[in-house]
Formats: sequence, C-alpha cells, structure tokens
Amino acid sequence: MKICLKGARIIDPSCQLDQYLDIMVAEGRIAALNVNLPAEGTQLFDLSGKIVVPGFIDLHVHLREPGYTDKETIASGAEAAAAGGVTSLFCMPNTSPPADSAEVVEQIRSEATAAGLVRVFPVGALTRGRLGKEPADFKALYSAGVRAFSDDGSPVEDSGLLYRIFKELSCYDGAVVFSHSEDLSLSRGGVMHEGLISKLLKQPGIPAVAETAAVARDILLAQAAGVRLHLAHISTAASVEWVSWAKEKGLPVTAEVTPHHLFLTDEAVKIDGALAKVNPPLRPETDCRALRRALLDGIIDIIATDHAPHQGSEKELPFRDAPFGITGLETAVPLLLSGLVQKGLLNLSGLIQAFSCRPARLMGLNTGTLRPGAPADLTVLDLEAASFVEPGRFYSKAKHSPFAGWKVCGLPVLTMVGGAVIMKQGVVQNVTGS
Ligand code: DOR
Repeated sequence: MKICLKGARIIDPSCQLDQYLDIMVAEGRIAALNVNLPAEGTQLFDLSGKIVVPGFIDLHVHLREPGYTDKETIASGAEAAAAGGVTSLFCMPNTSPPADSAEVVEQIRSEATAAGLVRVFPVGALTRGRLGKEPADFKALYSAGVRAFSDDGSPVEDSGLLYRIFKELSCYDGAVVFSHSEDLSLSRGGVMHEGLISKLLKQPGIPAVAETAAVARDILLAQAAGVRLHLAHISTAASVEWVSWAKEKGLPVTAEVTPHHLFLTDEAVKIDGALAKVNPPLRPETDCRALRRALLDGIIDIIATDHAPHQGSEKELPFRDAPFGITGLETAVPLLLSGLVQKGLLNLSGLIQAFSCRPARLMGLNTGTLRPGAPADLTVLDLEAASFVEPGRFYSKAKHSPFAGWKVCGLPVLTMVGGAVIMKQGVVQNVTGS
C-alpha cells in the first residue's frame, strides 16, 4: 500500500529543499513530493507541525556481534538505531572473530536482515585479525561488498605496513579507510585526557598529541598513497588544524565528530566516572569549542555516534579498569537538536548534511536524500517535544549514559526504512526481515 505523509516541513539539503510538501511513498521508494498529493487509498500520516528529513546515517557504530553479545547484539543495536532515528549504520570490526573475512561480513549481514530494521554496512578490518601485522584479504572483503576499512581501536602502528595497505586500498574504487588515529606509544596506559582534571583525579593521562600526531601521520600517508581517508571521532583542536590543512591541499580527507566530544568536557569524568570514560577521551572546553566551530565551518564534515555499548557491571568497575565507550544511538539526535540547532549553533540543514547527506555521499549510498526514486529512508522530527534522557528506556543493551537526566528538546518521532515504518513515537515497530 502507498503511504502519504502530509503537512510536514520537508528539509533535504541534497536537493536544496526546505518547503511544506506532501510525500508519497510507493514500493519502498519516494514516489512523489508535491503540494496536496491525493491521499485516497493510501496509508495516511498527518505530520502537521513535524519535519521530515533524509534518514540519519551513522558511520561509526559498535554492534558487538559476533562475540560480545552481552554488550549488544545486531538486533538490539538495530532497535536502538531505529529508536534514535538512524536508518543506516556502519558497524566496526572489533568483534570476535573480527570482520576480516567475507564469512564474518555475511554473518553480520544475515543477522541484520533477520533483525529487519535498519540498513547495516559492515566495516572490514585493515589487518588480519586486527593484529596490525599483515593486510586483511581486501579482494575478498571488497567482493563481499565492503567499502569501509578500519582496525578501529587498534590502529596499525607500523607506518610502513599502513602505507602499503593504503596503496593497496587506493586501487579499489569507492574504498574508504576509517582511521582511529591514535599513537599508542603516547597513549598507552592512559585512561582520560591528560590535563588539570587527570592530575586532580590522579589518573594516568592520554595527551592530546597522541591523537594529533596520528592524525598528521595518517593524513600524510593517505596523501602519499592516494587513498580516501575518513578520520573517525576527532577530539582535539590541533586535529582540526590538520584536517583543515588537508582540505586546503584538496586531499580526499573527511573527518567526523561525536556528540559526546561536542557536548562533554573532561570535567564530566569528575561527575560521571566511568560512564564518561571513552577513547579518544573527553577533552577540555577549548577543544570542544574548536570542534563545534569546525563543524559549523564544514572542516568537520560528518557527525557519527561511536555507539560503544558495554555491560552496566563493566562500567561499575573502578575507573582505571572500566572499558572505554559511550552508548550513542538513542541520544544523538535529541542532543544535537537541543545542543546545536535549538541554540542556533548549527541550522537543521547543516545537521542533516553532517549526519545524512555527506555520509551517504562518502560511502556511495543512494540514500541521504528524499529525491523521487530514492529509497524511502527518512526520519520525522518533532522540535517541540521535550523529554529527559532516560537510559533505562534505551533499546540498546547498555542502559547507561553520561547524558542521563539531561533535558532535551527535539525528538525523532518516526523512522522509515525502505518504506517500512520501523519506529513510531519512540516505539520500535515489529517488522520482520526478508
Ligand atoms: O571508547 C571507545 N570504545 N573507543 C573506541 O575506539 C572503541 C570503543 C569500543 O569498542 O568500545
């Protein structure tokens, strides 16, 4: 049955659209966008007062499966995405076994199909077993449809090997390296940002240069090898300067920032302890400000959550022993709407570009747009809806967050993927995979 979405304001920067229009969805695609589309014989949604945008696309998610299903499963992560207004996600390969083979990639895809909610794109490993010793089988991964490659939290230390890998990947059309830029010789043993607060708390620090030195190395190697580089979760003002340098040179480099690095400083560790333990660590306000400015200026192109769920019991361990990671899929859109859009720091178009259009363009997806003919992947926003972050209500298995109790204004109220409504008023819908 056709679906008619009526009365909403439609914002789609991919076709410079910001207008009150009706949307007709047929056979999983956007069939038409126009004023007063006839609704007879359709499933009608009255969306007066709401905003329809291209569905959010998250390039940085940890689904934990295979291997760590006590933290998250593909099904629970997909539900969290649907609840958060995310229609497509890229899942990181730090699973057990890691996604370094076509078999693991296929296993992830089939679980995602069974979950039947959002589109799931596995990120392939850069090295076999993510051990940093020899390249993964890129031919097999690429043939299996993988376009993003990363060793995630275990960056390749050997620059010679990384250069060879970059050169090899530069031969694969559309391949993108997602780089977790961290110089482990500088960060090893650290548990939070090295600065005043780490000294106060007597915790071993991770200096900002551990990230910035690696960002510089990765950009220079990518330039020399001619590979497309996407810098994951950058967190320092100095990293921004390197990204800006790369852009001035016209290099194919993009950079991403997470909501937690935009909205939290290392002060949060004093209050929230291990809930605010994340890698890269939360930085001082000067870095946060530089990240927000860079997002506004387009130096940082992309927002991604780095949704990194862990069990509650793990986060209750003493700070030094607790794992790094913050759950993000269900808080990202409300936080971004409240903390950037409502405050006038970034307009809605800027947010949609960073969290939908540009990720789609970078990864060659046909989503991130509401153009007729495109898959009907969209998110409906209610900017008036106010609420509090309640981790106990997350669909994610990780029901904790340093944002617990934050007041947010602006929520995703409907998520549609391929013409199927997968979330309505915060409730994930029962849709079966095919
Ligand atoms: O905080 C983090 N957690 N940063 C990473 O890079 C990895 C992630 C995880 O897998 O838990």
